[in-house]
Amino acid sequence: MTVHFIGAGPGAPDLITVRGLRLIERCPVCLYAGSLVPAEIVAAAPEGAHVLDTAPMHLDQIIAEIEAAHAAGHDVARVHSGDPSIYGAIAEQMRRLDALEIPYEVVPGVPAFAAAAAALKTELTLPEIAQTVIATRTGMKASAMPEGEQLEVLGRSGATLAIHLSIRNLDYIRRALEPYYGADCPVVIAYRATWPDELYIRTTLAGMKDEVRAAKITRTALVLVGPVFGKAEFRDSDLYNADFAHVLRNRGKKAKAG
Ligand SMILES: C[S@@+](CC[C@H](N)C(=O)[O-])C[C@H]1O[C@@H](n2cnc3c(N)ncnc32)[C@H](O)[C@@H]1O
Repeated sequence: MTVHFIGAGPGAPDLITVRGLRLIERCPVCLYAGSLVPAEIVAAAPEGAHVLDTAPMHLDQIIAEIEAAHAAGHDVARVHSGDPSIYGAIAEQMRRLDALEIPYEVVPGVPAFAAAAAALKTELTLPEIAQTVIATRTGMKASAMPEGEQLEVLGRSGATLAIHLSIRNLDYIRRALEPYYGADCPVVIAYRATWPDELYIRTTLAGMKDEVRAAKITRTALVLVGPVFGKAEFRDSDLYNADFAHVLRNRGKKAKAG
């Protein structure tokens, strides 16, 4: 018996991995994390499967379900939104399973920020503009941000920011980032990326609050910040530069790895 932690992807039911879907189709137990996992994916569970929304449950109850499946020898599809490695709360579940000696694996998924970048047809890393992507959140009701991870600190990097779980914290985001990115810095509010009602608002640090209020967005949105979301002038990368040799295109020049 194995527990399969599976990333469901950002919302569109065909953005789950083939591996993840095949597991859901064959596991007799499917525990899924609430409204951010699409119904079509949950519906792929086999006839007669025990299917449970874990959103209203606490950790002990979820582990009790897994223990019961383990006792019965039933594999479990434990389905989380996006990719389970960010804000998935899988670490605490895996810690419990380690203690109970219940085997598990993790199947990755498409994270919401990657889905939003695809919808926007935007590369998050542009040569000499931004070469770093930071997936972060701000300290609101959930656990405090660790020292050194506040936006005032991360903002010094000038990196592309994908700010999660913070659509109600726009005043703070603006205050923290304006000194580094400027009031005119491009921002995209990505609401329910890849769901049928998805919405992308192109705005700025200064303008985002009014736009979000007008659109009545209060949850399930990313605040994407950085010059890559505007019309940044950037040079071509070296990857396809004819004068640049690397291990897969070495024309007598000194090859560079990577
Ligand atoms: C608990 S976190 C889960 C993140 C998820 N594990 C991932 O890989 O994207 C939930 C937050 O992720 C963001 N999010 C998740 N799905 C989204 C989507 N389809 N569109 C926009 N933001 C999304 C929102 O900021 C939301 O508040």
